[in-house]
Amino acid sequence: GYPVNKRLSGKYNGTFAAVTLKERLPKVLTQIIDCLHSYNTTLVEKHGKEGTEALKASIAILSELKYRMQTNKEMQHISTGPDIKEWNGVFEDYKSKLGHEPHWFEVSWLFFECYMYRKVIEIIRTESLLSQYDPFKDQKEESLTKSMSQMENVAIQLMKQGSKVDQEIFNKYLMLSLWGNKADLSMAATMDSYEMTHEPEQESSLQKYILADDSESVWILLTNEREENREIAIVLDNSGFELFSDLMFAEWLLTSGLADHISLYCKTYPWFISDATRRDIDWTLEQFTSSSIKVLADFGNQLSKRLAEGKMSIKEHHFWTTSYEYSAMKTVSPDLYSSLSTAKLAVFKGDLNYRKLVADRNWVYTERFATALQSFRPTNVLALRTLKADLVVGLPEDAASRAASCDPDWMIKGMFGVLQLAVAI
Ligand code: F6P
Ligand code: MG
Repeated sequence: GYPVNKRLSGKYNGTFAAVTLKERLPKVLTQIIDCLHSYNTTLVEKHGKEGTEALKASIAILSELKYRMQTNKEMQHISTGPDIKEWNGVFEDYKSKLGHEPHWFEVSWLFFECYMYRKVIEIIRTESLLSQYDPFKDQKEESLTKSMSQMENVAIQLMKQGSKVDQEIFNKYLMLSLWGNKADLSMAATMDSYEMTHEPEQESSLQKYILADDSESVWILLTNEREENREIAIVLDNSGFELFSDLMFAEWLLTSGLADHISLYCKTYPWFISDATRRDIDWTLEQFTSSSIKVLADFGNQLSKRLAEGKMSIKEHHFWTTSYEYSAMKTVSPDLYSSLSTAKLAVFKGDLNYRKLVADRNWVYTERFATALQSFRPTNVLALRTLKADLVVGLPEDAASRAASCDPDWMIKGMFGVLQLAVAI
């Protein structure tokens, strides 16, 4: 396993970081290459032979990337994009630490995995014919389309609850958003099957899968005092069902009056397969507004109105697609840090956000969440995460052994969740 308190890395045999580097990520690259192959017909229709040439060029470089990864070669710098400085910074740090350019199995898991996704985009976008291409688009769209009727059910049930400020209703939305995180495609790609996310009516039976639950404190925080013009930030994760669950939560926070403004932070690049970009959000809203399912059409129109009125806003920042842990945000992207700090609460969705919050270290499971965040506290921080990586903090004494006796793979299947709050200091 990993040494205590150290950053997770592919060099530790038998760990999920090693499995990710040896098996999961090569599969993701193969999948991307397949997608590009099947894009050929479309591109040829538009651009003739040049289209095929562009694809061939990208595919060749992507195959090389896969080969270099699997054979532990040197990692090559990111050399195009607005974030070169940030990426170079990490490369420089490794160089001075190792005495040479970093190799895949030497670096932290956080670095090699983020780097891979970022490099893929660089490779693809170098080809001008592919500059808008999103290799995950079809998967993301399909996952939303497939869950339309599930979303309909959820929306009908929750709409019935109304908009009054009520702790039970608040918890239903929190749970929806938490379990919405199960439905992420980067897991689906490499697992035999993945269960769809839970329905809200099941939630009481799901309580045992929540290993740390600060929902009570979050409720108190939001209802205790009510400052004027209250903003709540949601740092989004996956599109598809999870995005729907987060938008439901966001809309309820506004209708209930618990928030006056919602800031939705999304990615600037296609990321970790299913993460939401602005385009994904726009596309999702279009699907809702044009849907024949009344409750979803109404929801879509309501969201569009919120955005038009400025009650909700979508914010992008390239920091989210770097490999930095969040304790570095204040130094690396001070503008983003101060943007988050205008919110009363910042909700961080999902596994990768969690890993970045706690610096992707092998903490003792009972370490305090607040300690693992180090100095990162732009405001009150809430993590809603299902466990898909072998690290976690803030667990009560017996929680880990209980979970492990339920399933030996309790940390990596998205089966267990945590809901953890660290108050502003
Ligand atoms: O691969 C690393 C990881 O943290 C996984 O464990 C999971 O497959 C993925 O990233 C994304 O999870 P999420 O969408 O919840 O951030
Ligand atoms: Mg994700």
